[in-house]
Amino acid sequence: MTVTRRTILGGAFAFAFAASGSVLAAKPLVMGFSQVGAESEWRSANTASIKDAAKQAGVTLKFADAQQKQENQVKAIRSFIAQRVDVIAFSPVVETGWETVLREAKAARIPVILTDRAVKVADKSLYVTLIGSDFVEEGRRAGRWLADYAATSNKAVLNVVELQGTVGSAPALDRKAGFEEAIKGNAKLKVIRTQTGEFTRAKGKEVMEAFLKAHGKDINVLYAHNDDMAIGAIQAIEEAGLKPGKDIIIVSIDGVKGAFQAMIAGKLNVSVECSPLLGPQLMKAAQDVVAGKPVAPRIVTEERVFPAEVAAKELPNRKY
Ligand code: AHR
Repeated sequence: MTVTRRTILGGAFAFAFAASGSVLAAKPLVMGFSQVGAESEWRSANTASIKDAAKQAGVTLKFADAQQKQENQVKAIRSFIAQRVDVIAFSPVVETGWETVLREAKAARIPVILTDRAVKVADKSLYVTLIGSDFVEEGRRAGRWLADYAATSNKAVLNVVELQGTVGSAPALDRKAGFEEAIKGNAKLKVIRTQTGEFTRAKGKEVMEAFLKAHGKDINVLYAHNDDMAIGAIQAIEEAGLKPGKDIIIVSIDGVKGAFQAMIAGKLNVSVECSPLLGPQLMKAAQDVVAGKPVAPRIVTEERVFPAEVAAKELPNRKY
């Protein structure tokens, strides 16, 4: 008996149709998900959110960890296509180089949903939606907080060092751009060094050690593109005999529990929130898209800024 390509009627179930048009069986919606890796506290929370939400929604999840490599993500997506999953979702490690594999998914008529990070492709029909944060705005929020701090400082100039995220990734590019935009023209703020710390604690510590070796006490501010790098840098600052949060003001992004603990300890000054809890929105979008319902091309996560002063009060409410 010939079975036409699956048509989905809704919820977490896919319905197969016989050539005659009669419904053969309902089966759970199958999603292939390619995750960036496990580089940070944020990423672990994001993975947990996606796995939990899939379970809750009755979605069968095929999960692949790319270990920070684009080639692994491309392989995973090709394998999902070969397995004929109902929907593919992924968080792209870098922005560029996705056209070919996304065209393959489109040719196989498998919808693709981006979570967390964006891709740069000319043909926007290669994916259905992007669910996640506005990284440029996060960078602006970090920059605005720092500009407000600088206005209260009696130093003529504050030397800033920057720890960037993964080279070529959307959050690294956008957080840098947003921060630069917010501090542009501010004569008190001078970025003296910027380098990638690859979004990890170990690399954040290593690069901060190098910054300290080169500039020592001349560093007034650290802007880290995520909390993990800030936490790694805090260790480097302490080992250099300086006080993080006081001798060096630290601004970072994510709002993970580790950052709240560092703020309560007086070692981190502010964390701009970036929510990893994208699982429920992803499952909803997947169900809608396979059911043929309209899905907005961009779904932006709502986020806040947490300065150290509110950390103790907020920590009990944090979910990641
Ligand atoms: O893409 C989101 C970023 O990736 C988070 O800020 C960072 O912690 C993670 O590794």
